[in-house]
Amino acid sequence: MTALLITGAGGMLGQAVVAEASTRGHQYAALDRAGLDVTDAPAVTRAVAQAAPAWVINCAAYTDVDGAESDPRGALAVNGAGAGNVARAAAAIGARLVHLSTDYVFDGRSRRPYVESDPTGPPSSYGASKLAGEREVAASGAEHVIVRTSWLFGTGGRNFVDTMLELGAQRDRLAVVSDQVGCPTWTGHLAPALLGLAEGDVAGVVHAAGAGSCSWHRLAVEIFALAGLDCEVGETSTAAVARPAPRPPYSVLGSERSDAPRLPAWREGLRAYLAQRGALARAGAPGSTA
Ligand SMILES: NC(=O)c1ccc[n+]([C@@H]2O[C@H](COP(=O)([O-])OP(=O)(O)OC[C@H]3O[C@@H](n4cnc5c(N)ncnc54)[C@H](OP(=O)(O)O)[C@@H]3O)[C@@H](O)[C@H]2O)c1
Repeated sequence: MTALLITGAGGMLGQAVVAEASTRGHQYAALDRAGLDVTDAPAVTRAVAQAAPAWVINCAAYTDVDGAESDPRGALAVNGAGAGNVARAAAAIGARLVHLSTDYVFDGRSRRPYVESDPTGPPSSYGASKLAGEREVAASGAEHVIVRTSWLFGTGGRNFVDTMLELGAQRDRLAVVSDQVGCPTWTGHLAPALLGLAEGDVAGVVHAAGAGSCSWHRLAVEIFALAGLDCEVGETSTAAVARPAPRPPYSVLGSERSDAPRLPAWREGLRAYLAQRGALARAGAPGSTA
């Protein structure tokens, strides 16, 4: 019997979840977007019934935060209705669902870490679509846990760390936003926590992100220090870097729940990720650079 079905398995987090499922020796089915479009309700019902898993981890999402501002319906179709399709299909066969959400469901005006019961108020279309997904999952009747995480980096997807390493190798100086603070999270730390949540019985909303917090500027400084890149990092502001979607100035995730997973510090995640990139580059993995 298949223990686990992973949707959105081709994405950055999806790939880390697949790797962790394999490490744990689970029987799993991994469906990327070509294998299953979560907006296609009948296809989702069929795929979940056919795999008949005990657990579903939904990593499928519309994650283009700026694109969602001009395509709110597209974002809602995947992150709202699509999440509902997966959740109802899981409910229909009695599978337990782990669904991914985001710090962007909050308005970003807090001065202390957000906990699970804090009021939501997403300023962006992406955040609104992810909140709609949380509501779909909660109303689906599936046994579920909704995991809000933040600032992901890892192999197999575009992320801030990769961008900085590329730019830092080309330039002597960069300006990076210093007035947005969050919790950088390595997918290699989050994936085991998600498997643990699938296997366990924690219910409702939990926050799971790299421990500690920093600004994008601080993160860039740390990346260059650890990677040994000689690139000076100046500070700039959100207002100076005009982007279509509003960004929360403060989206640090904490937890009020004793049963929420506690992830290692973001710096440990960064160190581990850089080591993993180096190992992949030495092994000659396609497209990898140290
Ligand atoms: N990245 C972050 O910083 C961050 C922060 C907080 C929360 N999250 C959440 O974490 C989860 C994983 O994100 P990620 O960083 O791994 O994003 P990602 O790399 O963009 O992965 C999302 C995957 O979903 C796929 N997808 C898009 N539309 C789909 C559809 N209609 N049906 C099936 N699959 C579809 C994408 O395929 P295509 O590539 O072909 O579009 C992609 O493979 C998401 O729920 C996201 O909201 C991410």
